[in-house]
Amino acid sequence: MHLTKKDIENTERIKRLNIINSVSGIKPANLIGTKSKDGYPNLGIFSSVVHLGSSPALLGFIMRPQHEKPRDTYLNIKESGFYTINHVHQNFIEQAHFTSAKFPKETSEFEVCEFTEEYLYGFQAPFVKESPLKIGMKLIEEIPIQVNKTILMIGEIQHISIPENSMDEQGHINLTSLGSAGISGVNSYYELNKINQFPYTKANKLPRFEKIQQ
Ligand SMILES: Cc1cc2nc3c(=O)[nH]c(=O)nc-3n(C[C@H](O)[C@H](O)[C@H](O)COP(=O)(O)O)c2cc1C
Repeated sequence: MHLTKKDIENTERIKRLNIINSVSGIKPANLIGTKSKDGYPNLGIFSSVVHLGSSPALLGFIMRPQHEKPRDTYLNIKESGFYTINHVHQNFIEQAHFTSAKFPKETSEFEVCEFTEEYLYGFQAPFVKESPLKIGMKLIEEIPIQVNKTILMIGEIQHISIPENSMDEQGHINLTSLGSAGISGVNSYYELNKINQFPYTKANKLPRFEKIQQ
């Protein structure tokens, strides 16, 4: 099959959304936890979290356009300056998925989707108790993306909570042992199996590659 720019533009909206959201491959499944200034907790699933750099330790994620009706996650991050990023475990993908529904501000997705708010290290934003890897974030910068009015939200890592046995001496984190899930499109969930690990690459130290099986 070959799809041109024109074919893509002429594809029905939902199908186009499914295709374009899938072509980049597996994305991480995370729940973003926030709290409004007047004390309402909020939880939403996000698949666009990305590593931006390690020193300072920065993560970004893409927010949908907010100019028509700003959503709770965005408003709470702007108000408080803090949020949490929590890995979705494969055992709770269904609950995590339904946090994406549009609930009123007063309704806590923690409650209706049956997650437990957890407050750790004196950090003001709620973590997800059931999550295997939790990150406390401080908002650093917000970059509006002109072409489609999405927003790149950039935060600095303040805390990481991870089980001892899921990180090796070099700091490699094993997502298989954590049970973290992956996402394709906006509604397909995958389990992650680690298949290999390779040393730091050097141009003068290439191994003998196996022939690629088609
Ligand atoms: C699998 C999946 C991934 C999503 N990823 C994102 C994302 O990366 N950015 C975004 O703005 N919304 C994303 N959404 C939509 C949000 O989850 C949704 O807008 C949610 O309502 C936000 O929570 P809030 O309304 O409480 O702020 C995703 C939804 C699903 C189902």
